[in-house]
Amino acid sequence: MNDFWDQRFSGDGYRFGTEPAAFLTRQADRLVAGARALAICDGEGRNGVWLAGQGLRVTSFDASPVGVDKARALAAARGVPLDAHVSGVEDWTWEPEAFDLVAGVFFQFAPPELRARIFDGIARTLKPGGLLLLHGYAPRQVAYGTGGPGKAENLYTLDLLEEAFAGWQVLEGVDYDAEIAEGDGHVGRSALIDFVAVKPG
Ligand SMILES: C[S@@+](CC[C@H](N)C(=O)[O-])C[C@H]1O[C@@H](n2cnc3c(N)ncnc32)[C@H](O)[C@@H]1O
Repeated sequence: MNDFWDQRFSGDGYRFGTEPAAFLTRQADRLVAGARALAICDGEGRNGVWLAGQGLRVTSFDASPVGVDKARALAAARGVPLDAHVSGVEDWTWEPEAFDLVAGVFFQFAPPELRARIFDGIARTLKPGGLLLLHGYAPRQVAYGTGGPGKAENLYTLDLLEEAFAGWQVLEGVDYDAEIAEGDGHVGRSALIDFVAVKPG
């Protein structure tokens, strides 16, 4: 898996570009400077670096050392601090109640069992009242073929997310189609899910 992503991230360009997912920028009003954020499976860093640029104190991780090197380079180029780690999500230590915000964007390499463990980790590591920003593909994306793993079982439905985060305050749950252009990795009409929720407590 790492070799696959290392190869995809090799070369000078940024596979998914250097700008954040549009979903994240739409959440700008919810961000609090100084808040502690975790960007999971952050690839080449476009999302973690953008959050750091908003004044958040960002920790990130990804399994690809090549991706993490590029994330560090992007943070340096933008002049923002980024505490970036090489780690598989399976090995990440989800420090309890440590973060004010968790951003999870396009980590749909994870099949349902691993996804459930990741969701548990997110719930553990967010502080009570912490904010979850989740963004990914919906199952009809498989037919669109413009990005993503091509495995419907890895993709999100709103029902799945509302069940996984039952009891959380859902601020946004949207299933929609949009044209996106994120590097050359995600290009064209895409079936997307935005999910924003607050951990109870
Ligand atoms: C589609 S990319 C998205 C990257 C980033 N979130 C973004 O939106 O630009 C999926 C990412 O998951 C990472 N990944 C794959 N398997 C992983 C694993 N087991 N643990 C952590 N990261 C993994 C890849 O290295 C890659 O960066």
